[in-house]
Amino acid sequence: MAHELLDAIRRRYACREFVANRPLTADELALLREAGRLAPSGFGLEPWRFITLADAAGRARIAHACFDQPAATTAAAFIVIVTPVQALDPGSDYVRERFEAEARGHDPAPIHAAYRAFHEGGGIAAWAQGQCNFAAAHMLLQAAHLGLGSCPIGGFDAAALCEALTLGEGEVPALVIALGHCAHAAPERLRKPLD
Ligand SMILES: Cc1cc2nc3c(=O)[nH]c(=O)nc-3n(C[C@H](O)[C@H](O)[C@H](O)COP(=O)(O)O)c2cc1C
Repeated sequence: MAHELLDAIRRRYACREFVANRPLTADELALLREAGRLAPSGFGLEPWRFITLADAAGRARIAHACFDQPAATTAAAFIVIVTPVQALDPGSDYVRERFEAEARGHDPAPIHAAYRAFHEGGGIAAWAQGQCNFAAAHMLLQAAHLGLGSCPIGGFDAAALCEALTLGEGEVPALVIALGHCAHAAPERLRKPLD
């Protein structure tokens, strides 16, 4: 029990080939999204949207935008995490609503002012994409816990992905997560020693 989470962490690896014709269930996909939804984010802004694609035509479009990498062409489903960069403007309704929720009945003005100053520092798109990696990590570990394979894919053509997903101008793709049942046993884990 004490090691349950660490076991899932140890089981996860980047799967580059998934078993053909073995879809994920709707329940599995819902659990993965729920794990992502609960991820932490800077200022509690949750700067993400999850797009699930499991149909053959949708998967082919995403795989192509990922340069037809094997993990993408064989995936049974994708969850693409996109970040609403435009909505992160300090004056947006999105930001106001998030801070009202985050303040839990207290005055949201101080956190809003702190965020405005942070936003003025620039680099908000890169910051928001970084936040999405927390949601991604939750999903990858939830997938491992469910016995599913996964591969985070940052190697994509952003313009092609925007077109495949018909994203609006204000949204930017952050990460593609390929999912399925892995076709091969886990490779040896390569990591630096703890010290
Ligand atoms: C942000 C990010 C982007 C990645 N992009 C790709 C990718 O485009 N294609 C790929 O095959 N693996 C990709 N990976 C997987 C890494 O190559 C892999 O996690 C790393 O080599 C460590 O191996 P492991 O996950 O099996 O432990 C990505 C991983 C992360 C965290």
